[in-house]
Amino acid sequence: MVEDILVLKNVTKSIGERNILTDVSFTLKKGETLGYLGPNGAGKTTTIRIILDLLKPTSGNAFLFDKKASEADRRRVGVVLENAGFYDNLSAEVNLSYYSRIYNIRDKEGRVKELLEFMNLWDRRNDKVGTFSKGMRQKLAIAKSLLHDPELLIFDEITSGLDPEARIIVREAIMKLENLEKTILLSSHDLEEIQKIATQIIILKKGRIIVNDSLGNLRSRHNVPLFEVSVDKLAVTEKILSRLGFVSDFKAATANRLLITLKSYENAPDLLEVLIKEGVKVFSSSIIQSSLEEVYLDIIREDKKKVEAAVDVTK
Ligand SMILES: Nc1ncnc2c1ncn2[C@@H]1O[C@H](COP(=O)(O)OP(=O)(O)OP(=O)(O)O)[C@@H](O)[C@H]1O
Ligand SMILES: [Mg+2]
Repeated sequence: MVEDILVLKNVTKSIGERNILTDVSFTLKKGETLGYLGPNGAGKTTTIRIILDLLKPTSGNAFLFDKKASEADRRRVGVVLENAGFYDNLSAEVNLSYYSRIYNIRDKEGRVKELLEFMNLWDRRNDKVGTFSKGMRQKLAIAKSLLHDPELLIFDEITSGLDPEARIIVREAIMKLENLEKTILLSSHDLEEIQKIATQIIILKKGRIIVNDSLGNLRSRHNVPLFEVSVDKLAVTEKILSRLGFVSDFKAATANRLLITLKSYENAPDLLEVLIKEGVKVFSSSIIQSSLEEVYLDIIREDKKKVEAAVDVTK
C-alpha cells in the first residue's frame, strides 16, 4: 500500500465571521504531485499555513506522516513560501551554509555546492542575496528547501514573477524531484505549468474543494474530443464528415489538415476506417488533448451553473 504523506480531514478555518476554509479534506500519497489551484483569495496559502502548523484550524485536522501537524517531524518537509527569508547582506553560498548548519546536514559544503549547481546559481554564489533578482531569490529558496533532503515539498506559487527561462529551470527542478519519488504540493495560478507537472488536481473556490481528481480523469471528463487528420482530398473528406453522425463539428486548419470534433474519442478509429474505405489517403492523425486551462474553465462554468440552479430552487 502506498503511504499517505499528507491528510487533511474536514479542515475549517474561520476568522471572525468569515469562513476562509470549509470542510477541506484530501490525501496526498507518497510520490504524488498535487496541483492546488484556485482564484486569488480561495484559501490556498491558508491551507498551506495550516499544514505547516503556522495557523490552527478552527476545526478538523491536518496530518503529516500520520501525525498531527503540530507533532509532525518538520525535518521531513521542505517549504517555499512567498518572501523566503534570507540574509540580504550575505552571499548565496553563506546563506545556504547557514541553513545547512541549522539542519545539521553532514556534508554541508558538498550539499550546498550540489544545490547551487542544481539551481544554476553556482556562478553567483559569492554575490549578496540582496542583489539577486526575484527569480534568482526564488531559485535560492528552492535550493534552501531541499538542503535537508525532505520527503514532502510544499511550494506556494513558486514560479510567479519568474521569466520564461527561470520558469523552465524551476519546472525541470520539480520534475527531477518527482523522479526522486518526492511528494509535492504545488499551489499555482499557472495552469500551463501545473499540467506539465501535477498528477492530481484540487480546485478550491471560496474555501471549498470543488474538484479533486487526477489530471487524466479531469481531461477525459471535461474534454472536447478533438481529432486532427491530414488528408489528400480536403473537399471529399469534408463531404464525408458532414454525413457522419458521430462528427459534431469540423473545420479546415490548413489546405490538407482538418480539425474534427467527435462525439467521443472512441469514434476516432471509426472515422479513420470510413475515410480509408472512401479512398481518402490519411497521412497523419492525432487526438488533441484539451489543455488544463480549457478543463479549468469548463469546471468553473459548470460550477457556476450548479450554484445558479441551487439559487433557483430556493426561490
Ligand atoms: N489573517 C487573516 N485575517 C483575515 N483574513 C485573512 C487572513 N489570512 C487570510 N485571510 C483571508 O482568507 C482568504 C484566503 O486567503 P489565502 O491567502 O489563503 O488565499 P490564496 O488562495 O492563497 O490567494 P492567492 O492566490 O491570492 O495567493 C482571503 O479572503 C484572505 O483575505
Ligand atoms: Mg496565496
